Amino acid sequence: MRILAVETSCDDTAAAVLADGVVLASIVASQDDVHHRYGGVVPELASRSHIRNMVPVIEDTLGRAHLTLDDIDGVAATYGPGLVGSLLVGLSTAKAIAFARQLPFVGVNHLEGHLLSVQIEGKTPFPYLALLVSGGHTSLYYVEDWGRYRLLGATRDDAAGEAFDKVAKTMGLGYPGGRVIDALARQGDARAIRFPRARLKAGRDGARFDFSFSGLKTAVWQHVRDHPIASESAAADIAASFQEAVVDMLLDTTFAAARSVECSQLVIAGGVAANSRLRQRVQEAAAEFGAGTSIPPLRYCTDNAAMIAVAAQRRLERGEWDTLSLNAVADLEL
Ligand code: KG4
Ligand code: ZN
Repeated sequence: MRILAVETSCDDTAAAVLADGVVLASIVASQDDVHHRYGGVVPELASRSHIRNMVPVIEDTLGRAHLTLDDIDGVAATYGPGLVGSLLVGLSTAKAIAFARQLPFVGVNHLEGHLLSVQIEGKTPFPYLALLVSGGHTSLYYVEDWGRYRLLGATRDDAAGEAFDKVAKTMGLGYPGGRVIDALARQGDARAIRFPRARLKAGRDGARFDFSFSGLKTAVWQHVRDHPIASESAAADIAASFQEAVVDMLLDTTFAAARSVECSQLVIAGGVAANSRLRQRVQEAAAEFGAGTSIPPLRYCTDNAAMIAVAAQRRLERGEWDTLSLNAVADLEL
């Protein structure tokens, strides 16, 4: 089965072709240059850029796969969660192709795509505990099997990636901030500044493994206000100290959750899983814990359509199709 998938939930316009489980092409058109000067994604500009980019990205993807629409057997698109104006572009395009070509169509939850991104190349055995860390989400899921996900905890305020982006903005480093802070932190001393680590008690709704990053974000803002950044090395120390605090908090809660479920396999997915320090420390900590780790390659950590195609594959094969009246849902839950 050959699947064409598109993903436009935020600010990346992505398409991919999957043939019998193998990615033939996966293209992501970034809008970073559009949003850079605003220090964050401007929804209206994101929708407009998706409209400009969507068809060329699909054409390039099919071209790279040496296929045309005649060769496609099913179409998939992200239908939430995300920015509704952005979601609508990819979703409408995919539905239009399905309608015009009389092809089966499946709508995919963006979070499910991230959780299954470790299945794109190689296979990660179920069940696994997955830390989903991106610009919009920071959650822990117990992934029992394809289509079976149990939420164990989530952030109560900012997502980890959002904290990276906001701290980068505070430090005048531009958008998106994660990659810049990651690179800058390599030259810094992670012990230079002791930023606070939030430790949340399980809420009233039972044992939840929640996160909080807003206190840390404010602490960095206050630090920069009181100690204006005067040198590259001062900036590197802030970046490294902030990053270390984020990684400490992520690992603390993840391993607390790992102790509460049967867990021999740990997965990190989402844009922040591209962070080099997080990748290094999670591998070390998991080895000590006695669990294996799977982290997708960098290109499948950040938003992409290959993960949407992989998530859609089983449903397309089994005939569990969606109708073309499926709408975008900004706050879609998993
Ligand atoms: O998964 P993603 O592409 O989009 C969402 O669904 O949100 O994640 C984007 C987020 C941004 O906040 C970006 O700053 C962060 O991932 N990010 C990183 C790194 N690369 C991307 N954060 C920390 N370190 C990185 N190397
Ligand atoms: Zn994402």
